[in-house]
Amino acid sequence: RRTAAVIPAAGRGVRLGPGAPKALRTLNGTPMLVHAVRAMAASRAVSLVVVVAPPDGAPDVRRLLDSHSLPERTEYLVVPGGETRRESVRLGLDALPEGVDIVLVHDAARPLVPVETVDAVIEAVRDGAPAVVPALPLADTVKEVEPASAGEPEPVVATPERARLRAVQTPQGFAHETLAEAHRTVTGDVTDDAGMVERLGRKVVVVPGHEEAFKVTRPLDLVLAEAVLARRRA
Ligand code: CTP
Ligand code: MG
Repeated sequence: RRTAAVIPAAGRGVRLGPGAPKALRTLNGTPMLVHAVRAMAASRAVSLVVVVAPPDGAPDVRRLLDSHSLPERTEYLVVPGGETRRESVRLGLDALPEGVDIVLVHDAARPLVPVETVDAVIEAVRDGAPAVVPALPLADTVKEVEPASAGEPEPVVATPERARLRAVQTPQGFAHETLAEAHRTVTGDVTDDAGMVERLGRKVVVVPGHEEAFKVTRPLDLVLAEAVLARRRA
């Protein structure tokens, strides 16, 4: 059975502030995307990585990856991405060759996910789950609010029981056919790939996530990511 990883890396990184597209920003000198590709390639099960580059940046991204070392067994492709994450993932899926039966979708913005998490996701798909997400319990209590007019305080409408909530990470793992079907048929707003599989009515299961799989979103996350890398080298 062949496992491939699709890495959406086409976002601009608006919340990180002005600069290069987020995936190309460096952590201790190495672009986030290179860390993310290495994190997928670290799993012996992953033999193909499809990188979804910024729409006009595919040649640059290909050159970037060519100039960094990756495990010998790892094949990679680079395709241009789209306007939304969903579109970028779909363009990555479209580039998969015949014979891939397990697909991971992994944010370039989660460059430090440990291989143990990657392998746990793959394992759960191999064990028969059509969709698998790594996730962690929440530290903060979460409140649902009602949208309010500008300047007005937002009224709280509900407080979901925290013990039952999970913060979801990537890589998310799928039976290839299930994810392809979801991308063909599910419409509407979804913020993760597993959410589309839920809309199909298919079962999605959770495996333990990892603190180091956090998403680099805002400037403080860069500080944390570089500290994690420094600790690994120590
Ligand atoms: N992504 C993508 N194509 C898009 C938008 C996002 O491939 N059109 C990717 C990002 O590159 C990132 C992942 O989806 O690896 C998660 O998205 P997010 O963290 O929101 O990244 P950005 O969209 O780049 O950041 P922001 O929302 O702050 O602009
Ligand atoms: Mg975004």
